[in-house]
Amino acid sequence: VSFSGYPLLSRLLFRLDPETAHRATLSLLRLLPYLPPLRSTLAKRWQVRDARLSQKLLGLRFPGPLGLAAGFDKDGRVVPAMTALGFSFLELGTVTPVGQPGNPRPRLFRYPEQASLRNALGFNNQGGEALSRRLKALHPWSVPLGVNLGRNKTTPPERAADDYYALLERLDGLCDYFVINVSSPNTPGLREMQEERALGDLLREARRRSSTPLLVKLSPDLAPARAAELAEAVVEAGAIGVLLTNTTIDYGLLPGAPEVGGLSGRVLRERSFATLQAVAKRLYGRCILVSIGGIDSAEEAYRRLRAGASLVQLYSALVFEGPGVAARIQRGLLELLDRDGLGSIAAAVGADLPAAGSRGAPR
Ligand SMILES: Cc1cc2nc3c(=O)[nH]c(=O)nc-3n(C[C@H](O)[C@H](O)[C@H](O)COP(=O)(O)O)c2cc1C
Repeated sequence: VSFSGYPLLSRLLFRLDPETAHRATLSLLRLLPYLPPLRSTLAKRWQVRDARLSQKLLGLRFPGPLGLAAGFDKDGRVVPAMTALGFSFLELGTVTPVGQPGNPRPRLFRYPEQASLRNALGFNNQGGEALSRRLKALHPWSVPLGVNLGRNKTTPPERAADDYYALLERLDGLCDYFVINVSSPNTPGLREMQEERALGDLLREARRRSSTPLLVKLSPDLAPARAAELAEAVVEAGAIGVLLTNTTIDYGLLPGAPEVGGLSGRVLRERSFATLQAVAKRLYGRCILVSIGGIDSAEEAYRRLRAGASLVQLYSALVFEGPGVAARIQRGLLELLDRDGLGSIAAAVGADLPAAGSRGAPR
């Protein structure tokens, strides 16, 4: 393992069990707002503010296309720090209506050789009420904030919709978009909601209850053609976008690993890309596509944008590449735009799709 991204800190953190390392990282990040000089030094170094990276989507200004994926800051504790690290939007959660401990530890594992993680956390989080209090205290925030919604483990699957409605009610007006998460592999039965009827009903009712933009996050374990069909159905039912993808349970991608939890990072990359391609072919221009899974470089982020994603997110690369990863990717994107003679991110989005021009830009 090279530890090239952040040799000192990673040597330390990689000695700790992964979840302890994550907690230590969150504690360090939570200190940042109390150290204004350090925070502004980091922000100067890592926040890439360039009009060419900026896009207006969902009625909001996104200063750049790279966001933090759900699961890193489940409870909204490190919003100022992650903004200072250069993420251009943040997705908090997954939050469930009632706080819950998640699965027994150990439940988070690193595979440094493959730059990949395996997690079986199971939506450990403090619940909707705690998040709502923190969001109120954060107002006004400086980059778009989404909240990823899930159901409690003890809620029977047939009553799952009620959990999503309860969260919409509690958090409406406190964030910029919601993600309906039906794709985590660590809550038994959750993925069974990846089906036209259940999702369609859920979205139509959610639309009636909230005017905040709603997106749906899908699994990479759907066959790409199936993901495209389902994505189309959710957009027709009122979702403004689709996030592709969550973690995979195709353990063949990580030979020898115990078959528990979801895989993320490099081993997920091509599968996530194939899902994006299939969905973009059908839906590009009709909704916002957000690509996630194995993105760890500007080249990879650029490939997703050109394939039709307006936005990208990452989680695992933060562990393997370190705190400068967002800045490195967004600076690298500027170089790639220059190389290809493109004036803005918006001009790159969908550039690799056939007849991109005639389909119209996404909202
Ligand atoms: C430790 C860990 C926890 C995660 N928790 C969530 C979660 O709560 N909700 C969710 O939608 N995705 C969750 N994810 C999935 C990520 O948001 C992302 O979809 C996935 O990791 C692929 O991106 P990556 O390869 O950049 O990590 C989690 C991922 C990891 C590694």
